[in-house]
Amino acid sequence: MKIFLFSYTILVSYLYIPAVSGYLNLYLSLPEVQRLLGLHAELFYIRKGVINNYALNFVVPIPSNIDSLCFTWESLTPGQPVHYSIQVDSSNLAALPTPKLNISDAGVISNTVQTFQISLPCTGLVEAEVDIKIKMNIMLTPENVTTLTFRRKKICLELEKSTAYVSVDSLPPYSNSVNILYIAICCAILFIFILVIVVTLYHVKGNKTRRSTENGSGPTTTTTTFLAALPRNSVNVSSYGSLKRMPSYSLIEERSKDLQDKITELSIQRCRVRLSSIIMEGTFGKIYQGSYTTEEGTEETTIVKTVMDHASDVQISLLLKEGMSLYALNHKNILSISRVSVEEHMAPFLLYPYKNYTNLKLFLQKCKVSSEGVHHTLTTQELVDMALQIIQAMQYLHKKHLLHKDLATRNCVIDDKLNILVADNALSRDLFPSDYHCLGDNENRPVKWLAIESLLHKSFSPSSDVWSFGVLLWELTTLAQQPYIEIDPFEMAAYLKDGYRLAQPINCPDELFAVMAYCWAMSAEERPTFTQLNVCLQEFYAQLTRYV
Ligand SMILES: *[C@@H]1O[C@H](CO)[C@@H](O)[C@H](O)[C@H]1NC(C)=O
Ligand SMILES: *[C@@H]1O[C@H](CO)[C@@H](O)[C@H](O)[C@H]1NC(C)=O
Repeated sequence: MKIFLFSYTILVSYLYIPAVSGYLNLYLSLPEVQRLLGLHAELFYIRKGVINNYALNFVVPIPSNIDSLCFTWESLTPGQPVHYSIQVDSSNLAALPTPKLNISDAGVISNTVQTFQISLPCTGLVEAEVDIKIKMNIMLTPENVTTLTFRRKKICLELEKSTAYVSVDSLPPYSNSVNILYIAICCAILFIFILVIVVTLYHVKGNKTRRSTENGSGPTTTTTTFLAALPRNSVNVSSYGSLKRMPSYSLIEERSKDLQDKITELSIQRCRVRLSSIIMEGTFGKIYQGSYTTEEGTEETTIVKTVMDHASDVQISLLLKEGMSLYALNHKNILSISRVSVEEHMAPFLLYPYKNYTNLKLFLQKCKVSSEGVHHTLTTQELVDMALQIIQAMQYLHKKHLLHKDLATRNCVIDDKLNILVADNALSRDLFPSDYHCLGDNENRPVKWLAIESLLHKSFSPSSDVWSFGVLLWELTTLAQQPYIEIDPFEMAAYLKDGYRLAQPINCPDELFAVMAYCWAMSAEERPTFTQLNVCLQEFYAQLTRYV
């Protein structure tokens, strides 16, 4: 219970910056939200003088077929006139001339509910994504001014091309069309918007009960776990062409050969393996760098996963089972087991090819520690490229009807050239004990990476891997901080059910956060597939590199 109060404090302090803007409502009305976002809701920017900065911060995309925006406002201080001035700018006058208002640029906010319109007609001469900036100054007194800035991204098409837009649905999934990115991002942002709306609703509902906590910390206290609320079934993705559902297929958990056969197939003699140095060590598990001498006499460098002599039978069989989970896979972004040595009265050796790999989690943490420039500083571009490599590994895995079930930075390795390989999770429980928790059932699970349904019902699907990928993306952008650090593992399920999620990391681009948040949709069908994530992040990557 304590944890929840704390959570609410963060929520409240993040969203509700004290009013300086007079007693005022400013919102998008029901029909306007319906028209722009296809949702049945109102979206408040200012409610009774309280500004919702979270909503203000998002750039709302305006599809090409919508050429006006409506805002609704109402001053709630009859005795005291609230003056305003509005300025609207277009970043590309050739595509979209300066937008027009149907109220005057400056005046007094009406004491009755008033809707005004900003028209955004494209010229049809140029195809462009136009940034629209709407700056509203709201003045209680001439010297007391609050400035609100709304950002919108309007898609303008060349007139004769405008029909192409409608047929996005029929484009092949890997098409480089900007439209697909746009729609994907649009959906992602839409999704964020729903968070905002629900957060707003939360506020309204719980306003009174939460008053007592509002005096807490200021807006800067939002640390790692910012909370957003997710509705269960409200994202209407089907109307946004590019997001088709993955066909449901039955997953073949164990491939046809059983574990014993696989081990026999990879078996080698112990005398061919030489251990040289320890890479990582837990309470019973160890990872060595070593070498393997082939029958032809050539030496190969390898990683050796093994356990110490005091390891229990359960630990040994788990090592073998998990170590074989990526058996016989052949993909440049997957670290597949290459050999096994099992000899009587000796701990098994699991061999993997080695090319100067570092554990991704440790690599990221090192980037953080030495931000003074000793170590490599990662750019957004590099992070997106890393994410893409993981996506490709996961696409391959899912194509083979395999689930990972423990996707996280600790289960990936990286080399000097920032090539990433997804590895199995053998020994991770022992080597990263703080990433796993027992919830009273003797099973040590990566609670904070698990999708809600995996946590509650131990049910896994491609979509639950997508959820974990979202957490992994968050790890990438925070340089491997611990997710939900202040949440008790026992509270995780309730916390997620209440709609809370990880916060947007500092310096994490909105586009990337939108992708993460989208991976954490309550209902598995609403999450993107790795194929969709691939398309979306490829386009984002292309955008990042376009101007370099
Ligand atoms: C500005 O507005 C706030 C709150 O409405 C008020 O407390 C403050 O005195 C005002 N400041 C000035 C300079 O008028
Ligand atoms: C501006 O236009 C909108 C949409 O046509 C309309 O609903 C609204 O009443 C107009 N506002 C004013 C002040 O004329």
